[in-house]
Amino acid sequence: MAPPQSDSLLPEKSSPAKVREAFRLSCFSPTAMKASHMTPLRPRASEAAVLWGPEEPFVIQEVQVEPPQRLEVRVKILFTSICHTDLGAWKGENVVTVYPRILGHEAAGVVESVGEGVEDMRAGDHVVPIFHGECGDCAFCRSDKTNMCAVYRVDPSKSVMVGDGGTRFSVADAAGERRPVYHFLNTSTFAEYTVLDSACVVKINPAAPLERMCLLSCGITTGVGAAWNTANVTEGSTVAVFGMGAVGLAAAEGARHRKASRIIGIDVNPVKFDYGRKMGITEFVNPRDHDKPAHEVIQEMTNGGVDYSFECAGNLDVLREAFLSTHDGWGLTVMMGIHPTPRLLPVHPMELYYRRVAASIFGGFKGKSQLPDLVEKCMHGDDRINLDGFVTHELPFGEINEAFRLLQQGKSLRCMLRL
Ligand SMILES: NC(=O)c1ccc[n+]([C@@H]2O[C@H](COP(=O)([O-])OP(=O)(O)OC[C@H]3O[C@@H](n4cnc5c(N)ncnc54)[C@H](O)[C@@H]3O)[C@@H](O)[C@H]2O)c1
Ligand SMILES: [Zn+2]
Ligand SMILES: [Zn+2]
Repeated sequence: MAPPQSDSLLPEKSSPAKVREAFRLSCFSPTAMKASHMTPLRPRASEAAVLWGPEEPFVIQEVQVEPPQRLEVRVKILFTSICHTDLGAWKGENVVTVYPRILGHEAAGVVESVGEGVEDMRAGDHVVPIFHGECGDCAFCRSDKTNMCAVYRVDPSKSVMVGDGGTRFSVADAAGERRPVYHFLNTSTFAEYTVLDSACVVKINPAAPLERMCLLSCGITTGVGAAWNTANVTEGSTVAVFGMGAVGLAAAEGARHRKASRIIGIDVNPVKFDYGRKMGITEFVNPRDHDKPAHEVIQEMTNGGVDYSFECAGNLDVLREAFLSTHDGWGLTVMMGIHPTPRLLPVHPMELYYRRVAASIFGGFKGKSQLPDLVEKCMHGDDRINLDGFVTHELPFGEINEAFRLLQQGKSLRCMLRL
């Protein structure tokens, strides 16, 4: 019986159901399980989109992926999509700029093998990577006041594994020497196989469609969670969403789910209004259509301002507009955008007596313990989270450069890449 890293177990281009079945048949027979424990896992060749420098096209090439070490998991990625944070990292914004590197953090796949000490997952499990991990054991993870983890929280300065400070990817250079390829956001999902800390991998219901669960890996969880966990939007309240990409529309979807009475979408790109309309938003403001600031338009539309505003553009001027568009006395602005260093918050301290600002990372969800429940909320019930509306394009993995162009040009919400 072949050990679990054998290529024969994983059809190169196959449906998630076929991959799961192949694993079940060949890994979980008693003989196979015994063999998998006795046979050391091997490195495996993997197709990956490698970034060699800022704003360079991704190069689709073969990389070597090491076996998972202690408390690590090797995952076969089946779907990955592109979030604006990948676009920022591609440009070299707000991240340590080390190359060659494998970006990507929004994905879904199947566990291929697990390292020593991993007890909550095994080969064949359907999983979603999370860039904002949860060890379950540190003071942060034990607190119900935060979704930070002391060790596995998102860290844009990190490019190696926690365990030994090394990488699990490499390529051969011209002299045949192996050269490290660096990791990104705890995940590096622009690869057929990736290695992650098990704290950054969530096992989900195998009946959930992986090509949609991919969205829960970042954008949709971030937006929906900002409305539910950070703002705690209440029934009948008014909401303004600044920046109608996938994150902003997910905040709108979270607010709709909470029965907000009005949801106003604000964007400078009218294409996003068409997407927003399809997702049930009925009021739109394009700041370029007005001769006064957006916050004044919204104050007038809502007789004094909205109860909650969400900043999802990654632009400090937009953050200020979002802040001023909330109601004096009780307004709350939730910031989700990733903002350029080294500028600071565009708010005078005295202004915070009248309106509040909060930031939300990964929607305030503790990924390992709370994402499986969100998966269920997307699968069942009359009022389930609408994931389909977020996937505006689908392409094969090899066309990742085109997928980046679509996001950069404001044409897509999420482009689903199939590996
Ligand atoms: N906090 C988190 O956990 C988290 C997670 C994912 C993404 N993000 C960040 O959230 C932001 C949104 O991500 P996304 O993937 O939805 O991006 P996106 O590019 O799809 O959407 C951004 C939207 O903002 C709009 N916009 C740009 N400038 C504007 C302006 N001046 N006024 C109004 N609208 C404007 C764009 O037209 C676009 O529709 C990014 O900054 C991303 O890095 C944060
Ligand atoms: Zn993201
Ligand atoms: Zn922790």
